[in-house]
Amino acid sequence: MFERLEPITADPILGLMAACRADPDPRKVDLGVGVYRDDRGDTPVLAAVRQAEAALIAAQATKTYVGPAGNAGFNQLMERMVLGAEHPLLSSGRVRSVQTPGGCGALRLGAELIRLASPTSVVHVSTPTWANHVPLLSGAGLKLEPYPYYDRATGGVQFETMMAALERLPARAVLLLHASCHNPTGADLSQGQWREVLALVKRRQLLPFMDMAYQGLGEGLEDDAFGIRLFCAELPEVLCAVSCSKNFGLYRERTGALHVISATTAAAEATFTQLVRLARGIWSMPPDHGAAIVHGILGDASLARAWAEELTVMRRRIQGLRRAVVEQLRAHCPQRDFGFIAAQHGMFSFLGVSTQQVRELRERHHIYMTDDSRMNVAGLRQENLEYFARAVAQVLGG
Ligand code: LMR
Repeated sequence: MFERLEPITADPILGLMAACRADPDPRKVDLGVGVYRDDRGDTPVLAAVRQAEAALIAAQATKTYVGPAGNAGFNQLMERMVLGAEHPLLSSGRVRSVQTPGGCGALRLGAELIRLASPTSVVHVSTPTWANHVPLLSGAGLKLEPYPYYDRATGGVQFETMMAALERLPARAVLLLHASCHNPTGADLSQGQWREVLALVKRRQLLPFMDMAYQGLGEGLEDDAFGIRLFCAELPEVLCAVSCSKNFGLYRERTGALHVISATTAAAEATFTQLVRLARGIWSMPPDHGAAIVHGILGDASLARAWAEELTVMRRRIQGLRRAVVEQLRAHCPQRDFGFIAAQHGMFSFLGVSTQQVRELRERHHIYMTDDSRMNVAGLRQENLEYFARAVAQVLGG
């Protein structure tokens, strides 16, 4: 039967990751896949993770199953991290959480839940959105429709146009929102804009599906969760897909959670039973290791502080790189304003060059970014900023 299958091209992000790994040139600059890198280009295991991991291995007495909803202590601590320790919802009985294999698992589980509750639902996604949103959500049988988001002219959000498009959505439409550190553009909503979107969501009776994969890597653990916390406080139903890949550096451990807010405690209870059954039918039970580490970190005040400090170092490095790359680009490409990069958040920005120029950067200068010119700013290093800026100047025809 498999002889009928046609080969397909690799996912753009994963294909690029493989191409960069295979490039032996010592000057190569990997701005492809969204992983944090330090100034040596490494993605080290965080010290807090190592400590929690050592304690876990020393104390672990069994490898028996945890269960389809995963680690209950992890789920509870994640709710506190995402919503904030004082959030009114925490004691309301309206939140239910399931540990998932990464943020991807959370997105897929959320999509499966939506399809179960309302099979004809349409999910409205920003233009552009993370490439993997499409297979993750449409693979659950949901239809996707785009809404305008990124303004290439300013490097910000085309807020008026976006709001006008959202105003036309039918009641119960699903609205996928990036909580912070928008992937791929780095352009986030301001707090005032979140409030305006909230009013629209209420008025139009939309269902928000929040994707938060970078909490702590934009402006900080609290600020990055502003939109999620606001929506969860004010709306009857919200889905939040959360990843621990980047902020805990647990990429390959596949650690995430889906938090579902329901209108009543009875609805929350019923939803939880459905979530557990859906998870059981897809991955049965999530992998334990990463969630046990996060549980160990967030459940220990001094380890949690140490982790938050490491996260601050990562965030500040990205913020510093954003400013530094703008300076270098200003010096080498004065004809073009790249100032928007410093105003954006998280790992990603669009450089704003053509696919042809992206390919030239790859082929002539060993600089790797996706064809749409998304670059992972954390992949830059002090020592190659000038190399990068000179290369950009060359492909721009300077
Ligand atoms: C990215 O956007 O590069 C990351 O989220 C990694 C991935 O799985 O695509």
